[in-house]
Amino acid sequence: MSKSVWIEGTEFPKYQKLQGKIKTDVLIIGGGISGILCSYFLKQSGVDTILVEAGRICRGVTGNTTAKLTSQHGLIYDKMIQSVGKEMAGRYLEANEHALEKYRQLAKKIYCDFEKKDSFIYSLSSRSKIEREVEALTQLGVAAEFCEDISIPLSIRGAVKFPNQAQFNPLMFLLEIVKGLKIYEYTFIKDIAPHKAWSDEGEITADKIIVATHFPFLNKHGSYFLKLYQDRSYVIALKNAEDVHGMYMDEEKMGKSFRNYKDLLLIGGGSHRTGKAGGNWEELRAFAKQYFPTAKEMYAWATQDCMSLDQIPYIGRYSKRTPDLFVASGYNKWGMTTSMVAAMLLSDLIIGKKNEWEEVFSPSRSILKPQLFINGVEATKNLLTPTTKRCPHLGCALKWNPTEHTWDCPCHGSRFEKDGKIINNPATGNAKIK
Ligand code: FES
Repeated sequence: MSKSVWIEGTEFPKYQKLQGKIKTDVLIIGGGISGILCSYFLKQSGVDTILVEAGRICRGVTGNTTAKLTSQHGLIYDKMIQSVGKEMAGRYLEANEHALEKYRQLAKKIYCDFEKKDSFIYSLSSRSKIEREVEALTQLGVAAEFCEDISIPLSIRGAVKFPNQAQFNPLMFLLEIVKGLKIYEYTFIKDIAPHKAWSDEGEITADKIIVATHFPFLNKHGSYFLKLYQDRSYVIALKNAEDVHGMYMDEEKMGKSFRNYKDLLLIGGGSHRTGKAGGNWEELRAFAKQYFPTAKEMYAWATQDCMSLDQIPYIGRYSKRTPDLFVASGYNKWGMTTSMVAAMLLSDLIIGKKNEWEEVFSPSRSILKPQLFINGVEATKNLLTPTTKRCPHLGCALKWNPTEHTWDCPCHGSRFEKDGKIINNPATGNAKIK
């Protein structure tokens, strides 16, 4: 499997597997950036935490990101004002701006290649969409600008610029943050009950539990199998390509993203719903050949993201009926900034402190959105597809991914190696591949 520019050459600390019984105030399941930051903030508040990770920490989505830190998450603010109102849209923005500010503060103490950068969302087809977003942002008090030209070699209809955002190296940052945290690796949680969780050789008793496992794997509560699907996307890193002086993202879902890291240009794109065909690396390579013909590919990697029904993440209580179980998921490809929002919000909820953003991100908000219907159709179609290769999560038909040589599930994005060994959840076990 291809390694990201962040993972390649990084020396990760090693942690033991949990064996036996153990007690803590807060159990955090999942050793990605969300779980690690939750553990970090709670420890700072004097709360005892234990973090368990099924494999090695930071090796999932966290190690395979493009690592942009921004409140600009596509052209969302115009839509959000219309769907949930100006106040809620303003609070979403505020939460993300606070997250960005927290990164700025931490980056003063932690060397992590943190750089201030402007962020741009561009459109290849619609000037009016960009104009509406600038107008929405002006209403929310952001100094956003309409740009006619940007430093990427594409002919655009316009772009909206968010000044003073940032980019960093997420693993340099997190490997400092984890110092002093109580972590167990190779500890796959198989079941949770109120205040208890079990792995194959361990049992943890905790007052509260945070599920930070990328896709929440507990099906009994919260209906995450209705609320989320996964999207796969690809990145290549090129040498001898120009500096684009910022972070760029197409407003179209299937479009491309750009940023530099040191002497590399990172191009992202080729995305598709997991389990479906898509452009993948080949699309990016064809693009690079056309626009950066003298550049050399140094790295290529892929990642996958949980997509919510309304472009707002699910951060808070796992469900209305589980007061001591918490969740953070559905980051819609903006996980670096959102995980900081999640850590600030969840650590406040756990220590009983009021948090202004709780309502915005509440996992119990209405699910009556058009994407619910699309997810339902996809699930029905794949449940009814006749094949022996079935996903152990909820039984959908697995699809062969010829680019990555994996079995992928179009329903909720579980993925398996050629022989059925699990790679990505929400499945919690291997698939039978005959
Ligand atoms: Fe849910 Fe496959 S991931 S059925």
